[in-house]
This record gives sequence, structure tokens and C-alpha cells, in this order.
Amino acid sequence: MAESTKAKTIVIFGASGDLTHRKLIPALYNLYRKKRLPEQFTIVGVSRSPFTRDEFRDKLRKGAQEFAKNAFQDDSWGSFAEHVFYNSGNATERGDYEKLDNFLKSCEGGPADRLYYLSTAPSLYVPTVENLGAAGMTEENGGWRRIIIEKPFGYDLESARALNKLVHKVFDESQVYRIDHYLGKETAQNILFLRFANTIFEPVWNRNYVDNIQITVAETVDVGHRAEYYDSSGVLRDMFQNHLLQLLALVAMEPPASFNATALRNEKVKLLSSIRPIGLHDTVLAQYEGYRQTKGVAPESQTPTYAALKLYIDNWRWQGVPFYIRSGKALAVKTSQIRIRFQPPPHLMFNRRNDGSFTPNTLSICIQPNEGIRLKFEAKVPDSAQETLSVNMDFQYSTTFGEGEIPEAYERLLLDALNGDAALFTRSDEIETLWGIINPILDGYQTNDAPPVVSYPRGSWGPAEAEALMARDGRVWRVGCSREDG
Ligand code: BG6
Repeated sequence: MAESTKAKTIVIFGASGDLTHRKLIPALYNLYRKKRLPEQFTIVGVSRSPFTRDEFRDKLRKGAQEFAKNAFQDDSWGSFAEHVFYNSGNATERGDYEKLDNFLKSCEGGPADRLYYLSTAPSLYVPTVENLGAAGMTEENGGWRRIIIEKPFGYDLESARALNKLVHKVFDESQVYRIDHYLGKETAQNILFLRFANTIFEPVWNRNYVDNIQITVAETVDVGHRAEYYDSSGVLRDMFQNHLLQLLALVAMEPPASFNATALRNEKVKLLSSIRPIGLHDTVLAQYEGYRQTKGVAPESQTPTYAALKLYIDNWRWQGVPFYIRSGKALAVKTSQIRIRFQPPPHLMFNRRNDGSFTPNTLSICIQPNEGIRLKFEAKVPDSAQETLSVNMDFQYSTTFGEGEIPEAYERLLLDALNGDAALFTRSDEIETLWGIINPILDGYQTNDAPPVVSYPRGSWGPAEAEALMARDGRVWRVGCSREDG
């Protein structure tokens, strides 16, 4: 389907927030520089703050200087900023939407397509969607109307269902783009290319050859100034319900017949629906030391800032293969990676090491940083009789494509939404399936049977209990993406 050549308007609700000047505007500016935005476009920021247009643009300019990497240039920013406007309004005031609609029409000067971006506090999603509907701003009588909804989409399964229901009263599902920025990361998209644009990986990508899969999303930052949001959310809602399970889906799903939104999302939902309910004994939740002293955190807070889960996928491909997934804040290292560990050879004709070990092959998919893919395999040490050494075969984005060539996830996602491609967005049934995986754990930790939420030192790799979860299976957590990693 050819995308319409009409003028496009991008309306950002919550425009005074961090996301707008850190991510959305730098991404739109980069798209503009690369000449990927339509000929005629307008960006309108909406929030309660009483900015003038110039004040708003100044704030965005600073953001672009800081966050558009090295790309910022006065000239191109100047011409980009001519497309940027501001309209102050209250998300909960119906009257403000009529004013906004008139303002948009005056900017558009004729029929135009509109992309609404919900980047507000989640509590404002409901009134914003309702008011857009009530003001007739979702009717597609002059051009298409689409909405991007930021995470978190819901607080649990029930609220996600309720939000879907409400959204569907006003928008058709084909107009809705639920964002998960991990899906916009080049390295996450590349998982599908690694698997399905090559022939050599897929034949071994199953229970016959894979021993276990680990996914690690570790952050060094703590909750910082987001404590208030974070304390009512925690790592399971903030990272697992979306980013980690999306990575898992990409790595474990069956090949779709084509690279389009319906085929891709069908396969993801099928995979996610095959995840066996996770028992509490296969979970570890923890909090970094000092978390409760953070401003905005309840003094007795039980909110986890770290979690490690073990899960199984009940289908033909993965039966019996454990998946270990972990994520936390205030950890030793920032890294997002997937590590596929293959089984040892069925018969060893070479000497084992002195300690009796033999290192199985591993494939590490390095999402960030050190973006790339690393295959670790055994080689004969030269001038030895039978000695082996684990060596690496490396693909690094920086050496192949050049430093700084990986665009921000939001560039891809904003462009796809403008072009009507929902492949990298989460469908309504998918979001409910994701919540269906996490919700029982959240509920389980509200009962007396729950293991305690333990603690871990800042700057560590998490609690000892997470090591014990692996040790139970005779395994250890491993990372494999930086030079030093074993
Ligand atoms: C966000 C979470 O969705 O993802 C944050 O709300 C987290 O808590 C962030 O820090 C991590 O994203 P990235 O791209 O830095 O790995």
C-alpha cells in the first residue's frame, strides 16, 4: 500500500516531559536530516506548561544538541524548527481538545494525516483517548489518524485489558501503535535477520542442539529521579513485561511466512502463549541496597529493582530447554545481551582440559553496547598435541558499518508509524499475553507463599539467590559481549 502524500502532523502529548526532548525530537530531527520525513509535516507539542512557541523550541534545541549525537547542525535545526509548534492544554479538559483541533487545522491548512503520540503520565492515557474521541479528532475524514501509546500499557493484565477496550472504542486496532523501544533497536531487529536471512543457524536453533538460553539486560543506573514512577512499577513491569519478553519472543519464535506486521505478530503471540506458567520457586526478586532511602520511594517498599526468572516454552522446538532471564538497576555493568549455549559434542575424541571441562559453543547476540554477534568455538592450540582453546568469531557493527551508524530506536519506530507499518509495535492480544505471563508472578508475591524480596549491593551482579537459581541446575550466569568476557 503506497503511503499517502498528504501533509502529516505529529502531535506529542506530554511534550514538556523528558522523552520529548531526549528521544522523540532528536529522532524526528535525524529523520529530517536524512530526508525521511514527508515534504509537508508539522510537529505540535501539547502539555500543560505555558511555553511560548520560542521557549518550547529552545528547550527542544538544547535536547537535540545533547541527544542527537554528533548530528546537530545550526542550519538544519533552524529549518526543522520551523515545522515545530506548541499548544498548551490540559489532557483532562474536553474544551482544550476543540482548541487544539482548531490549532492543528490552522497549521495544516487543509486535509492532513495525523499521528498522535501519547507520551504523558500513564494516568492520562484514558482521558486523552476519550477526549480525542469525543472531540471527533479520531475520525479519518480528511486523512488517517493513528496513535502511538508509550509504555507502560496498563499496570497489570486487568488494566491492560480495560485500556485496550477503551482504546478500541475510539480507534480501530489498525490505528494503534503500542511502543516498545527495544523492538526499534537495530540489534533486536537483527535477531530475525540472523535467524531467517541465513541458513546455518536455524537448523541448530532448537532443543536438539541448544542447552540453554540466557538473556541479560543489566543497567548501571539506579532509579534516579524516576523513583516515584518506579516504586509503583518495579522491574517486572518496567522491563520484563515488555523488553525482556520481546527479546525472548524474537529469539524463540517460529519463522513467519513474510516480514509483515500480521505474520510477525501472529508468530510472537503464538510463542508467548507457549510459555509455561512461571512458578515462584523459579523467580528471584531483589532490591539494591539504599533503594528505600531514595526520595519518592516508600520507606518499607518491597518493589524489586532486580529480577531473575527461569522459564520453559512448551512447544516442539523448545521443550525442556531452560531460558534464564534477568534484569536490574545499579548493577556492575550496562549490557543487554542474549547468550545461546549449545550442547557439548556427543562424543569427545580429544583430551579434555586438566579440570575435565570442555567448553560448549556459545552464540552471543550483543544488543548494546558493543553491538554485534560473537560465536565462541573451540580451536586447536598450535604446536600442541590435543590442546583446545575457546576462540571468538566476531561481528561488530562499529567495524563493519562504522562508529555511530546505529540509529536510535525511536527513529525507526516513528518512521514506521508514519508509514503505517506496525510490525515493530505490540498488538492488543500480544500485550495481554505479555501481561498474562508476568501477572501471576506479581500476584504471587502478594501472598504468604512468596519468597522474600532480597537485597544486593550496588555495583554488583545482583543477589546471591540469583546465582543459586542457576547453581541448582549446575549452571552459572554468563555474559559474552565484551573483550574481557569468558
Ligand atoms: C525503559 C525503562 O523502558 O527502558 C527504563 O523504563 C530503562 O527503566 C530503559 O532504563 C532501558 O532502555 P535502554 O534502551 O537504555 O536499554
